[in-house]
Amino acid sequence: MRLGILTGGGDCPGLNAVIRAVVLHGARRWGDEVVGFRDGWRGVVGDECFVIAPDRASKILSRGGTILGTSRVHPYMTDDGPARAVEVLARRGVEALIVVGGEGTLSVASRLHGEHGVALVGVPKTIDNDVGGTQLTFGFETAVQTATDAIDRLHTTAESHNRVMVVEVMGRHAGHVALWAGIAGGAAAILVPERPFDIGAVSADLQRLHEGGTQSSVVVVAEGARPVAGTLDVPAPGIDEYGHARLGGIGAIVAAEVEARTGLETRVTVLGHVQRGGTPTAFDRVLCTSFGVAATDAAHEGAFGQMVSVAEGRIGLVRLAEATAALKPIPGDLWEVAQACLS
Ligand code: F6P
Repeated sequence: MRLGILTGGGDCPGLNAVIRAVVLHGARRWGDEVVGFRDGWRGVVGDECFVIAPDRASKILSRGGTILGTSRVHPYMTDDGPARAVEVLARRGVEALIVVGGEGTLSVASRLHGEHGVALVGVPKTIDNDVGGTQLTFGFETAVQTATDAIDRLHTTAESHNRVMVVEVMGRHAGHVALWAGIAGGAAAILVPERPFDIGAVSADLQRLHEGGTQSSVVVVAEGARPVAGTLDVPAPGIDEYGHARLGGIGAIVAAEVEARTGLETRVTVLGHVQRGGTPTAFDRVLCTSFGVAATDAAHEGAFGQMVSVAEGRIGLVRLAEATAALKPIPGDLWEVAQACLS
């Protein structure tokens, strides 16, 4: 079979591990040839692709980023984009396309399958872990580890100075990274998009902790966290060229307010794209390899319009339309676990 593969949206650790698994498993188990499209959907619409030889793919398992490049361009940005994508895939002889992306990239895949019958299989990627229909997206575990390592370091410098450290992590619509890293890093407060925060209550908790003898406290803030309406002024975010809010800055606002309300010296660290770069953890490498193998097999079984997923600890398939219907918020029970152990 001639398979196509693309990586779209923001990058994350493990993209190359998925590409490798598709190329190696496809060639060895099925005799496939794999064509990689450059820069996500841009390469499909613009007809930019190359054959990924198994030799080329074999040593990219641990490398961050994506050898294919990525972008947020997609066919529905122009009237003739979808027809052009269909035509390019046919001209290149692509019998099935493996689409590796987050909610935006996968929603486009779902539409192209539903409206134009494109034979494709999705693979859920994003450090944000907010794609529906799967317990896990790849890249998330690596980002949590990176954030946790940073929090551990922040604790020791905070202790030396008796400070509050505010650390801003990614998480546009959902606070999975903040929640997991906050629990793993022993945070004093965790602020997520799903639960508007009360800065008065956060400040009072921090004051109580430090008055009780705590020498360091870490507040983990997801970039999409927002205060309870009317309690704190937060400027509206700018908009990027694809119409997405350009987030970032909530950590600095929280830090300034905490310091003003408590008198505790407070510093802010914005982790930013450090969370998206670098080598995937061993767990993510295994997940990516499993996803890549499952997606390749799904293509051969004709399971089009589906996405590989994790459910109850097993790799399976879910309909793309279902997976992209709604973003996945943080689980309420894990939020309660976090609240039980803030310190
Ligand atoms: O990959 C998702 C994400 O990490 C969001 O959490 C973040 O807001 C966004 O990407 C930033 O992406 P970029 O700076 O590449 O536009």
